[in-house]
Amino acid sequence: MGKRVIKIFDTTLRDGEQTPGVSLNVNEKLEIAKQLEKLKVDVIEAGFAIASPGDFEAIKVISENIKDAVIVSLARAVEKDIDRAYEALKNATAPRIHTFIATSDIHMKYKLKMTEDEVLERAVAMVKYAKKYVSDVEFSCEDATRSRIEFLIKVFDAVIKAGATVINIPDTVGYTTPEEMKRIIRAIKENIPDIDKVQISVHCHNDLGLAVANSLAAVEEGVHQVECTINGLGERAGNAALEEIVMALKTRKDFYDVDVLIDTTQIYRTSKLVSSLTGVFVQPNKAIVGANAFAHESGIHQHGVLSERTTYEIIDPVSIGLPKNRMVLGKHSGRHAFEERLKELGYTDLTREEIDAAFEKFKVLADKKKVVLDKDIEALLEQKSLNIP
Ligand code: KIV
Ligand code: ZN
Repeated sequence: MGKRVIKIFDTTLRDGEQTPGVSLNVNEKLEIAKQLEKLKVDVIEAGFAIASPGDFEAIKVISENIKDAVIVSLARAVEKDIDRAYEALKNATAPRIHTFIATSDIHMKYKLKMTEDEVLERAVAMVKYAKKYVSDVEFSCEDATRSRIEFLIKVFDAVIKAGATVINIPDTVGYTTPEEMKRIIRAIKENIPDIDKVQISVHCHNDLGLAVANSLAAVEEGVHQVECTINGLGERAGNAALEEIVMALKTRKDFYDVDVLIDTTQIYRTSKLVSSLTGVFVQPNKAIVGANAFAHESGIHQHGVLSERTTYEIIDPVSIGLPKNRMVLGKHSGRHAFEERLKELGYTDLTREEIDAAFEKFKVLADKKKVVLDKDIEALLEQKSLNIP
């Protein structure tokens, strides 16, 4: 039997666009959607159709142009949202309406001002309503991880009976922990008789820096879909980062024992595109796609990687679409990396004495500069030829 395939639901264009200060126009959204298609994500949440005319138009255009992914519009559990979502999605090859309502006491009391019974009734009615338009309906209990577990189970059970095809567990405020996420999923699986008829999904936010860990814990517990964004964009501290989840599942295949159908060689390009179109800079030490993710500075590490890459690299940079790793020359760097850089810069005929002299000057300079650039090395070598001590 083949391995379980984890579906990657990308919400960069919906939850990712909720990053403070980010707004993408229709053309930019289409460009990102085309790149997501190349990345081979399974599902693209293209927007929230009722939120704005621009969002509606983007979902429509993406539905008409992207054929290799399920296209989703978000909709609150109200008829007018669902009507609008369908209107935007109707030309998609595989349309999905994603409807949601909050189920935590705090949201029901202060935001919705609804009782449990009213929320349950609305959830069921709106799943049935969405089913009149499309066969694929995802239902989310917003703030699921802070909801009373008995109520969460009751709502999921009822929406499955009403026709939901995917049930999503959002950790809306990034509150849960990996162990707690596992307990929630176990309780849902053990107490809903028809659970095998639907896909279980998780959607984790990063307020405690646990979004990826919580998503991976959910994979261990048997979910079918994870929701995530490129570069971890999203409300507040963001959503789970797609590139981190995918590379964790690929790199630790021995542990997770699942497949993902993503073309990882498109990861770096996608990250760069999203960063340039959203204007959100990627921190240098960001896992997988940060500028330093494959950079080595210390002499010990550089020597190790130059002898055998896997000594200090668990991921081949080529596998995410980067041409190679990067040796950063600074004060911790050693002779090995320095000599390698000299060769790359074309200094192939230096004598041993000339290399030694250049290396000494490099070490003096490295104490004064954080990073020694190629042009600094060239200047050192020019000094040599001019015979400046
Ligand atoms: O974080 C959240 O709860 C959401 C839902 C609408 C799925 O984004
Ligand atoms: Zn969210």
